[in-house]
Amino acid sequence: MMRLVTVQFTPRLGERQANLEAIRKLLDPVHADIVVLPELCTSGYFFVSREELAPLAEAPGGMACAFFQRLADEKRSIIIAGMPEVAGERFYNSVFVFRPGIVEPLVYRKSHLFYKERFVFEPGDTGFPVIRDERLDISIGIMLCYDWRFPEVSRVLALDGADLIACPSNLVTDAWKKVMPARAIENKLYVAVANRCGTETRGDETLLFKGCSAVYDPQGEIVTLADAEVDRVLLAEIDPKPCRDKSFNEFNDIFADRRPELYGAICRPRR
Ligand code: ACM
Repeated sequence: MMRLVTVQFTPRLGERQANLEAIRKLLDPVHADIVVLPELCTSGYFFVSREELAPLAEAPGGMACAFFQRLADEKRSIIIAGMPEVAGERFYNSVFVFRPGIVEPLVYRKSHLFYKERFVFEPGDTGFPVIRDERLDISIGIMLCYDWRFPEVSRVLALDGADLIACPSNLVTDAWKKVMPARAIENKLYVAVANRCGTETRGDETLLFKGCSAVYDPQGEIVTLADAEVDRVLLAEIDPKPCRDKSFNEFNDIFADRRPELYGAICRPRR
């Protein structure tokens, strides 16, 4: 068994230092193998221009990256955090994965941009990464918030060997509560959703972030669940090994039973 933590909190828009301080306080008492934080957890979400985003955007080696790498090294944890990324002139809504003793974070750039994100971010170009960690004996697939509406994403991650899908989020609807457990069942893996709470207002538009972070097991059952409005660190004990057996009775195996020759170009086996 290993210890998986999701962190739900209320980032302040544009206040990176305050957000890092809040994360440090929440994680101070935590001992976990894997920590999942929300989307854009260092910056807040609702940006209306690249100019206001620019001073908050990270590149590997940046200030927030140094903060998280130190934390990963100190705690011997894999830390998965959503942050704005800058690469040359371009900005991405990205997930950075920090591993103890590994200096360069892995970066996933959000593939499916939600709502007004398109006005500040470029669509991601990294594909869908699965991180293999030999020390913990787990493979972790990464998706980011609105990616949940595309079953192809979780399928591709599962076909690439993910035992757990980590999904940093800033969710503003409720439909995902029905769908995330389905992603767990249909791929027979764990899904960890780290959502945020609070509101952000720009002009006359307010976004309400829905909290309710959760970890779902390979049967789609809730292992642990947060309230809608309260900052909360959730702990789940997970065992990735059963996720590698995709059978669910004597005759059926959700991977072996697939008929990719009937599916067209999508979701062909990748191994
Ligand atoms: C979302 O992708 N932030 C809903």
